[in-house]
Amino acid sequence: MDTNKISLRVATTDDVDEISSLILQNFNLMNCSDSRERIYMESNLPKNLLKNHFASESVSVIVAEIGQRLIGCLVYDLENVDVMHLRKCHVVPDFRKQGVSLALFKKAISEARDAGANSFFSKIIPESIDAMVAVMTKSGITLTEEKRISDGLGSISVKGFI
Ligand SMILES: CC(C)(COP(=O)(O)OP(=O)(O)OC[C@H]1O[C@@H](n2cnc3c(N)ncnc32)[C@H](O)[C@@H]1OP(=O)(O)O)[C@@H](O)C(=O)NCCC(=O)NCCS
Repeated sequence: MDTNKISLRVATTDDVDEISSLILQNFNLMNCSDSRERIYMESNLPKNLLKNHFASESVSVIVAEIGQRLIGCLVYDLENVDVMHLRKCHVVPDFRKQGVSLALFKKAISEARDAGANSFFSKIIPESIDAMVAVMTKSGITLTEEKRISDGLGSISVKGFI
């Protein structure tokens, strides 16, 4: 895919349904533990979390599109203005490995730097750690720590500099 065809824009609340179905679709495709799958599938969690994100002034939601089609999203939080906290990054399966998340990350990092952030934090689910470390490294993030945390889901806390 020609990455020039990807357009990026700030998401609006009109995008909530499409973004949450992308997240649910991605979780459906992962071999998640039963507990996490139940939490996500039965509680409408992505949609409720997204609504909270949109209500928060420190959170930014960026979407990637080809034409009118939404093919990816990235959510980050600057609650602590020094730290870019990556909350979500999802790409439609058919459009993966074509630079979509890289484009989203580059935009988010540039915005976060402009706002004064210099470090990075994220909590990554174990199923995604390899892909996400590859994307983060490729985006220019210098990773300094990767630590399993005891949240009952086996998530991995990742820290670094942007
Ligand atoms: C993880 C994810 C966001 C990556 O998006 P993507 O658009 O496919 O990533 P890109 O094409 O921009 O890849 C950027 C770099 O990371 C590498 N990469 C991407 N996916 C990878 C994978 N599964 N394993 C190893 N490297 C990977 C790419 O090869 C590329 O490096 P290269 O240019 O040297 O080839 C996407 O696979 C996804 O949506 N997964 C499901 C949702 C998810 O797990 N999100 C994280 C939740 S915490």
